[in-house]
Amino acid sequence: MAEARIGLVGLGVMGANLALNIADKGFPVAVHNRRTSVIHDFIGKAGPLAENLVPAEDYAALAAALTPPRAVILMVPAGGPVDSVIEALTPHLDTGDIIVDAGNADFNETRRREAALRDEGLRFVGMGVSGGAEGARHGPSIMVGGAEAAYAEIAEVVESIAARYQDTPCAAHLGPDGAGHFVKTVHNGIEYADMQMIAEIYGLLRHGDGRSTDSIAELFHGWNQGPLQSYLVEITAKVLATADPETGQPMVDVILDSAGQKGTGRWTVVEALKLGQSPMAIEAAVAARSWSAEKALRETGEGLLSPQDAPETGPRVLDGDLERGLLAARIIGYAQGFWLLSAASEEFDWSLDLARVAEIWRAGCIIRSSLLDDIAQAFRGELPGGALILAPAFVRMLRDSVSALRRVVAAAAVSGQPVPALSAALAYYDTMRQARGTAALIQGQRDFFGSHGFVRVDTGEADQHGPWGA
Ligand SMILES: NC(=O)c1ccc[n+]([C@@H]2O[C@H](COP(=O)([O-])OP(=O)(O)OC[C@H]3O[C@@H](n4cnc5c(N)ncnc54)[C@H](OP(=O)(O)O)[C@@H]3O)[C@@H](O)[C@H]2O)c1
Repeated sequence: MAEARIGLVGLGVMGANLALNIADKGFPVAVHNRRTSVIHDFIGKAGPLAENLVPAEDYAALAAALTPPRAVILMVPAGGPVDSVIEALTPHLDTGDIIVDAGNADFNETRRREAALRDEGLRFVGMGVSGGAEGARHGPSIMVGGAEAAYAEIAEVVESIAARYQDTPCAAHLGPDGAGHFVKTVHNGIEYADMQMIAEIYGLLRHGDGRSTDSIAELFHGWNQGPLQSYLVEITAKVLATADPETGQPMVDVILDSAGQKGTGRWTVVEALKLGQSPMAIEAAVAARSWSAEKALRETGEGLLSPQDAPETGPRVLDGDLERGLLAARIIGYAQGFWLLSAASEEFDWSLDLARVAEIWRAGCIIRSSLLDDIAQAFRGELPGGALILAPAFVRMLRDSVSALRRVVAAAAVSGQPVPALSAALAYYDTMRQARGTAALIQGQRDFFGSHGFVRVDTGEADQHGPWGA
């Protein structure tokens, strides 16, 4: 007997919280988990929300609990698990039913699954969900891709569980097939860049300047009241202010300095390169996580490469420069992410509404920040070249902050502190403000050794060659 409005498979961290959120909004939800013992534990601990949770021991029971067109949300790890759940679930579904992959999927796989399921008469929605466990429970930012008619069937539930910004849900249908998962991937890429830039500023203060974690926490706490206001700056202050209950040391000091990554940052870079794009700040952040994992190499390197090649002290950077430098770099990180979204939108014919993307990131998601309101406004106003850094408001903000970024990067270089994401952001800015760069020499070299040809600037003629042999 049909008794639920929507189904959900995968009661892990995200799925359990999302199911509670749906139940909390008054929608009965049928829940299934591969290890079925988890289902009963979960419902047993749900308190009054249990009355909106329908246990489904298997996929047949899940399908029977739903009214066609059924909608089933999957919240399982990307890749094989998504395919295996789809394979087991589809025999119990009917034409027009909807499968929603709410995990972090590679958008290429979402496109493949959407096409394959369409051939079988089913509808597939790729839905990016950001906000971690807390967001899933109380309001995430939700980026949806797939057929608009399929979204219409689930929009009421999705928009009621999403975060709200000034009473507008932070959820939107952004385009067909993989559009939602692509936007979520780039969201995570921007998140990588922002986290890395914050960590680099921390490194300058802690390792370069020898400041205590408490004083750095206070600094970040103060910055969170200004133009850097954001979830990531807020939690940075909290992480740095936390002591390890066992040793009393700063918590950050008992954590191994080797950052994990589950793939979305790398996907951002891979997809960018396939599109002929290079979001340098995001690339640098992905690279920095990979280098962080080379712990043994860095331990050997510390003995062999210091201190002659890397002086331990350098010019002190003013706190105000660190704040404004981080703001400049953050703007550039976002700008590179949005530029990539616009390149993908053109390539895949998605007509992404970038202002709307910025709007649904203003609450619920990990990169939520006060800057996103300015970004949304910039995309709704005059935007020379379609580039965020050229929007009048951002030209002004960068004019006020890039000199600080320059001083931060210079001081880091002199004192031997690695700041790959901050320096990549600065290099991007300096590249974009040079109408004539240095690639003429690259073209000359290519023509010299490979006869690749070049365009003459005086006549505009292509396929020209230099008199190299003469
Ligand atoms: N954690 C976050 O902050 C976050 C944020 C945004 C998006 N996401 C994405 O959300 C998805 C779920 O992440 P999570 O953190 O909730 O993971 P999780 O806590 O590890 O839970 C994974 C869930 O998937 C199930 N599962 C794993 N392999 C399966 C398979 N082969 N067949 C069927 N079920 C399978 C597990 O069932 P069992 O109990 O039977 O093992 C469990 O219910 C991932 O795509 C992740 O990237 C996570």
